[in-house]
Amino acid sequence: MTVSTLTIRRPDDWHLHLRDGDMLRAVLPASASQYGRAIVMPNLRTPVTTAEAAVAYRERIESALPRNAAFRPMMTCYLCDTTDPAEVRAGFDGGAFAAAKLYPAGATTHAEYGVTSVDRIAGVLAVMQEIGMPLLVHGESTDPTVDVFDREANFLRTTLTQILASYPRLKVVLEHITTEEAADFVMRDASGRLAATITPQHLMFNRNAMFSGGIRPHYYCLPVLKREHHRQALRRAATSGSPAFFLGTDSAPHDTGAKESACGCAGIFSAPVALQAYLTVFEEERALHRFEAFASENGANFYGVPPNRQTMTFHRTPMQVTGHIDLPDGRRLQPFLAGETLPWSLASFSQEIAS
Ligand code: DOR
Ligand code: ZN
Repeated sequence: MTVSTLTIRRPDDWHLHLRDGDMLRAVLPASASQYGRAIVMPNLRTPVTTAEAAVAYRERIESALPRNAAFRPMMTCYLCDTTDPAEVRAGFDGGAFAAAKLYPAGATTHAEYGVTSVDRIAGVLAVMQEIGMPLLVHGESTDPTVDVFDREANFLRTTLTQILASYPRLKVVLEHITTEEAADFVMRDASGRLAATITPQHLMFNRNAMFSGGIRPHYYCLPVLKREHHRQALRRAATSGSPAFFLGTDSAPHDTGAKESACGCAGIFSAPVALQAYLTVFEEERALHRFEAFASENGANFYGVPPNRQTMTFHRTPMQVTGHIDLPDGRRLQPFLAGETLPWSLASFSQEIAS
């Protein structure tokens, strides 16, 4: 039987890049109009490494919010070799930081100030474990001899295993997982302190999408899309009902000039369409009844915040995705699935419901 409407609690996006300045103003409405909260990534051109910088960035986001938006940005600390454990503790205790992000140095966009060796941040990780502050991990090995398609699996073996063993109570989110190895790794951990976010693109496409009829930069992100069996494993994980998997779009805008270039940037701007894309996947997997937990409950439980109190209703009415968004200086932004039609549309929000 085909379902024609679906009502869930308002979701949260547990992995989002909002950028700054004009780009922030262009992309924020798409997230703020749909999600209750988002974990905001700290990889700005000048990374967010202090509590003061996080509060200032949060204020810039809040002042760019559309009027009446009920959206709460949750800020993260960009970890460097030199990060001071006391700064992390004070930032978390004072509410500036909700979590800290581990980028292996050079792994991705603006990751050049990231961590060169986990040993360098031992003091920070010990404090995070003590205070219950989640560590968000970009899980890719940066060893240049490791094949780009093997970097996630390699990271699990070489680095994540070591982190989890050294800090047995540290809460960890393995961000944007892309492989069967990662899905199994998280599924096998029964402790409840390890979780993973999954993006819409890794659920919808395998690596062929990047090369169909030519090179397609709008399907390029990091970690890169993988083989079909990995996609199938991610779809099983997302729709399994396990509380360890939750929604994190990794929506990462770059203007079309930066994407369609001799050295195109990694990142897919999925915010306008991610919910409808996830819904399509859950429907295809006959798991619509598990969508609310994935989108609106598991992440909140992991982060220890209450689920949102509004509901959101989708109709099974086709929606055509915008072709592009104009930036003020003539640049353009192309969203994920631009021009395509998806089966679900966002219809309405309720007023607050009882928790
Ligand atoms: O594709 C990606 N884009 N992966 C990342 O890890 C970073 C992100 C960005 O900031 O553009
Ligand atoms: Zn990201």
